Amino acid sequence: MEKESPISTMTSSSVGNSGGYDIPWVEKYRPSTVAEIVGNEDAVSRFQVIARAGNIPNLILSGPPGTGKTTSILALAHELLGPNYREAVLELNASDDRGIDVVRNKIKMFAQKKVTLPPARHKIVILDEADSMTSGAQQALRRTMEIYSNSTRFALACNTSSKIIEPIQSRCALVRFSRLSDQEILGRLMVVLQAEKVPYVPEGLEAIIFTADGDMRQALNNLQATFSGFRLINQENVFKVCDQPHPLHVKNMVRHVLGGKFDDACSGLKQLYDLGYSPTDIITTLFRVIKNYDMAEYLKLEFMKEIGFAHMRICDGVGSYLQLCGLLAKLALARDTAKAA
Ligand SMILES: Nc1ncnc2c1ncn2[C@@H]1O[C@H](COP(=O)(O)OP(=O)(O)O)[C@@H](O)[C@H]1O
Ligand SMILES: [Mg+2]
Repeated sequence: MEKESPISTMTSSSVGNSGGYDIPWVEKYRPSTVAEIVGNEDAVSRFQVIARAGNIPNLILSGPPGTGKTTSILALAHELLGPNYREAVLELNASDDRGIDVVRNKIKMFAQKKVTLPPARHKIVILDEADSMTSGAQQALRRTMEIYSNSTRFALACNTSSKIIEPIQSRCALVRFSRLSDQEILGRLMVVLQAEKVPYVPEGLEAIIFTADGDMRQALNNLQATFSGFRLINQENVFKVCDQPHPLHVKNMVRHVLGGKFDDACSGLKQLYDLGYSPTDIITTLFRVIKNYDMAEYLKLEFMKEIGFAHMRICDGVGSYLQLCGLLAKLALARDTAKAA
């Protein structure tokens, strides 16, 4: 689930360099304009058009955490409304009460409020993490959205758009966000590294990107945690801080499986298990390692299939050492069949 810091509206300019030592980097380096947002070009260019021309439609932004949904809406609202932001934007997120009563009273009152705005500008209601609103509250919203549509527009952000009721989906333009690519995350990390003068080695950044898995918030948080803990970004420190199984270790396991040394693979697994990593941690890392492993395409697909099944069984609650050993055995078998063929 998504973790959000309470100071979500703090922009980089308001923080400045005033010894902002304790400020989380995710907030310090939150882009304050739409143009600064990296990745998801389609969505960003759409927002840039809206920022220029005004007339924002009702929007649903959906996608995985840490990809810039909240950031885009806030930046867009700032660009559209500028000095009017204070009176013309109502921002509600999961930490606010958003039951039926709030929709009936607070949102409706805001929609009825008179604010003088330039042409093609509207009041904006931002409902962040809207998938946590009850369907009753969403129902109460649908008519309000229509009645006040000439003065007030809604922007909803959520992780899964299917948790938004259909009638609201049909009143909104859907903008999808996807996980950021490694390159995109790297680019942003470099900006922060330079601004904060963080010492690093390239493998350390690779490790940060690996652990973040397309989530910029996680990447920045891991970077800051490693920096404040060790003052140096290298592979070892990153995996210590993030407490994930070391991919090199997992890679060795895979190498043993592929080399026909099943016992060695199992003892590698045992080591990880004894270090206290949960089967979910181990299998998630295994999946990511395989995804990037240089091996025959056919075998890779077989491996991923088996990992998928094992992951499913682990999620069902059978997360034993035996389960993971069984997986390694399946992988070894798949490799033997591929060899024989
Ligand atoms: N596309 C992006 N470009 C630049 N920074 C980003 C991007 N996505 C996320 N971030 C960073 O991660 C933090 C959290 O992003 P946020 O927009 O709140 O994510 P969410 O999609 O979960 O709402 C931001 O403060 C920003 O520092
Ligand atoms: Mg968010």
